[in-house]
Order: sequence, then C-alpha cells, then structure tokens
Amino acid sequence: MKKNALAALSAALVVLSALVILGSCAKGAKDGKLDSIKKSGKLVLGTSADYPPYEFHAQIDGKDAIVGFDVAIAEEIAKDLGVKLEIKDMDFDGLLAALASGNVDLVIAGMTPNEERRQNVDFSDIYYYAEHGVMIRKADAAKYGSDAASLKDRMIGAQRGAIQVTLAKTRIKGVSDDDAEAPHAQVKELGKLPDLVMELKNSKIDAIVAELPVAKAYLGANGDLALASYTFKDDDGGSAVAVKKGEAALLAKINETVARLKSSGAIDGFVSAASELVEY
Ligand code: ARG
Repeated sequence: MKKNALAALSAALVVLSALVILGSCAKGAKDGKLDSIKKSGKLVLGTSADYPPYEFHAQIDGKDAIVGFDVAIAEEIAKDLGVKLEIKDMDFDGLLAALASGNVDLVIAGMTPNEERRQNVDFSDIYYYAEHGVMIRKADAAKYGSDAASLKDRMIGAQRGAIQVTLAKTRIKGVSDDDAEAPHAQVKELGKLPDLVMELKNSKIDAIVAELPVAKAYLGANGDLALASYTFKDDDGGSAVAVKKGEAALLAKINETVARLKSSGAIDGFVSAASELVEY
C-alpha cells in the first residue's frame, strides 16, 4: 500500500514537471525574440543609413554616427524594452535576409510594407507616410522637370530591392504591373543612394526615384540637382517596422511604442530634428 502511494506520487511528480517544462517552452516560443532581447540587454537594429532624414551618417561631436528619425524611433523602442540599441548598417536589399537569419532583431529603414514583403516578415503599424519624388540635374529641369513621360527613354536610377525600382518601371517606363518583376535595361539599380546620386551628377543616369523627403535632403547638399514637379504615390501606405514572422510579443511592444510616438506628435519632432542634422 505504502509502495503504491509512493509510486503514484512520483508518477504525479513526473507529469507535473513535464507540464512545467512544456509550459515554459510554450511561453518561450510565444515571447521568443522579446525574451532573448531582454536577456541580452540589447536590441539590434538593421538599417540602410543612406536615406536622410530617415537614417544617415552624420558627425556628432566629431565622430561618425548613424542618426535620423528611424533611429530615434528605434531608440524609443529600446528604451521601452529597457535595453540598449545597437545599429547594423547594410545595403537595403540585405535587410530582410538579416532579419530572417536573426542577425538583426528589427528593421527600420523607411521600409514600405508591401504585399510581397508581408509574405516573409511581419510589419508594425505605419509610423510615417511620404510620396515619392524624382531627382534630376538642374540643367535638365526644363526637359524632365514637369512631366514623367519626358523620362520614358532615359536612364532612371533606384535603390536595389526598393519599391522605387518598380515605380520607375511602372510609372515612368510604362511597364505593366504584371511585368514589373523583370529587370529593365533603362532602370539602374545600385545598393546605396549616394552612388546613384554620383551617377546622376556624372550624367550616367538622368533621374533618381526616392521618397520625397530623401530627394529633398540630397538636393539641399547638391546645388546642381533639382526636384521634378511631379510625384508618385504607392498603394502600400508608408513606412513600418519589420520583424521576423511570428514574433507576436515583440511586434505588440513595437506597436505600443509606435502608437505612443504617433499620438504625442513625437515623430514629427524627430523628423524635423533629423532634417537639421542632414549634412549632405
Ligand atoms: N520605401 C522604399 C522601400 O521600402 C525605400 C526605402 C529605402 N530605405 C533606405 N533606408 N535606403 O522600398
């Protein structure tokens, strides 16, 4: 009798501890990335710091730093999580792979949450909206400045992996949405914006499509460039933070911070502060 009771008790203990282990695994899976960020004490941001005023390099106290309103938002997210922010700067078209491999915890890079990307990553609520502008050489303002059709047979530059590649094809080249995936001989894709700006200044290309605030920022430092009078809207609604698919707990935290910053008007403040730091 006593032996049986002991056996029953130890069996019950085994079941109980199994349940506890299972329970903590399930919790670990649910809060996965959020937990590991809190444990490590740092949040790793992936971005492409060539996109003023979103994210760009600037000299702060004589030292190179990555700044911008996206960085300010990332700092707020880190603060709300009680951790430090670490920034990894890379080409825009490498960001989602870095997220998938766990090399970065989140991506904030003026990224548009389009359908194609939504299949691979999860996005926060939109934190900022901008239209797309077209940079040209000032000397060509009369030729290309007032009508997108004037660029139909010219070389257009856009950042590799960015939605502006598609915009250049569909809105300037007249390619149909269904054919917009295929490369176009007159749409030049480069990894970083400053390289495209160089090509524009050297007449290797005749225009660059980028988010309007970015086009304006580059213009400010390049007196030989001008902005076309037309702009493009896309249907995908602006910029959002990307996280690895299925990290619901982390995403919920990010959305809390985004909501707080939007409702207090802080994001507009970050945009003007960032715009003042733009040096190029
Ligand atoms: N909004 C565009 C996109 O998602 C371009 C973003 C480029 N961002 C950058 N940091 N260079 O495709």
